[in-house]
Amino acid sequence: MPKLKNKNLNNYFLNLSNKLSEINQFETFPNPCVGAVLVNKYDVKTSCTGKKGSPHAEYQLLKNKGKLNKSLLYTSLEPCCHKAKNPSCVDIIIKKKIKKIYTNSRDFDERVKGKTQKILNKNKIKIIYKKNEPNSSFVHNISSRVKIPYVVTKIAMSKDGFTKHKKKKIFTSVNALKFAHLQRYKSDSILIGQKTLNDDNPKLNSRINGIEKKIKIFIINRHLKINPKILKNFYLKNAYIFHDCKDISKIKKFNKFFKLININFSKKDICLTILRNVYQLGYKKILIEGGIYTLKSFLNAQLVNELYIVKNKHFFKKHGLLKASKFINSLKIMPDEIISLEDDTILKYKPKYVYRDNTKYRQIK
Ligand SMILES: NC(=O)c1ccc[n+]([C@@H]2O[C@H](COP(=O)([O-])OP(=O)(O)OC[C@H]3O[C@@H](n4cnc5c(N)ncnc54)[C@H](OP(=O)(O)O)[C@@H]3O)[C@@H](O)[C@H]2O)c1
Repeated sequence: MPKLKNKNLNNYFLNLSNKLSEINQFETFPNPCVGAVLVNKYDVKTSCTGKKGSPHAEYQLLKNKGKLNKSLLYTSLEPCCHKAKNPSCVDIIIKKKIKKIYTNSRDFDERVKGKTQKILNKNKIKIIYKKNEPNSSFVHNISSRVKIPYVVTKIAMSKDGFTKHKKKKIFTSVNALKFAHLQRYKSDSILIGQKTLNDDNPKLNSRINGIEKKIKIFIINRHLKINPKILKNFYLKNAYIFHDCKDISKIKKFNKFFKLININFSKKDICLTILRNVYQLGYKKILIEGGIYTLKSFLNAQLVNELYIVKNKHFFKKHGLLKASKFINSLKIMPDEIISLEDDTILKYKPKYVYRDNTKYRQIK
């Protein structure tokens, strides 16, 4: 082990725990991916949260060890203290007699917030918080605070601002499609509007070679307008539909294929109600994939954290439908990042937030 001063050594292992937390970062929803490092005089052992959120990094690291009273534990996020699908990490820390923990970030999940520190201190275990929040727990923490998912939106447009071509179903390049699949991979859920469902009959899966990822699909479809061909689309089976349809025969018919959620559409804050429902079902990062009507409603409700506009280099002119450029311009936002691909340019915006990050955060009542 290199000779470093204690403080540098602590920072080194804390940084290592953050790096480890990036390994399964997008595959542990609804849990965050945590990195953990166990250090004693003779060796260093590492771990991170398993795919689908199990096992937890700390539990995996400690479960087969004897007494660890001479070891230090470093984690990217404070250990959990509740038993759910996974055993409590705090319990095993106490059992193995660890005396000191360094962590990068507090956990804002209600089941952990403030409780972990209390239990550890009661058991004479010191936990030191370094306030260096890793990316892997960023989405988890803001979503836990506001109790709605972190919202990412994406829309493709022609050079003259149209979101639909009269004849072509897909108009962006292969690389832009890859970008779309990457965004799906980085989310645990996708939301679309009724018209995108019926016009496109989409698969909405993440088609990245070597990766299989289940992403929950949500659809806004107030009157349960569903084209019969949709019921043959295996990819949409068990998608959730938000509706307020009173037609019992429709409900009975579509209940077999979809999971129907009845909400009150006459309320003003419908987008917020939808996101609250999504969060309660255990989803923490949602990708809104359109169309423009759906996207507009979430932008107008100031519920969007990130907006990606995929701008194609071609003009649609008389073949263009559903022009969006006027609305986007009216937002008066500037891109934070511009990525140039062959035929497309991807513009990343951080529009008006409900919550931007941990510092600028407006509570939703
Ligand atoms: N360029 C792109 O990136 C892109 C992406 C996706 C889709 N598209 C294309 O865009 C077209 C559809 O776009 P669109 O804008 O017309 O429709 P859309 O956004 O797919 O669906 C709009 C409909 O969904 C329901 N809805 C959505 N948000 C709602 C809200 N907040 N409150 C209440 N109801 C809500 C309403 O259904 P009701 O009217 O039934 O109440 C609304 O009319 C498709 O043809 C598709 O091919 C393009």
